[in-house]
Amino acid sequence: MRVHLDRTACQGHGRCYSLAPDVFTCDDDGQAVLLVDGPLSSDQEVPARLAADSCPEFAITVE
Ligand code: F3S
Repeated sequence: MRVHLDRTACQGHGRCYSLAPDVFTCDDDGQAVLLVDGPLSSDQEVPARLAADSCPEFAITVE
């Protein structure tokens, strides 16, 4: 499973890095930053899906 973050869609709601701190962090403006480059580990998959489902801007996709 891979995760994609659309930084242009992110409005800094912060749910992703609260729900999946191993997958996302934030920059100085509160915008999401993806920490993972490549496939997610098994323990990152559920939090990443939760983050994707919780982002009000639909900035996160998992595939
Ligand atoms: Fe941005 Fe969505 Fe996370 S708006 S900070 S990607 S919850």
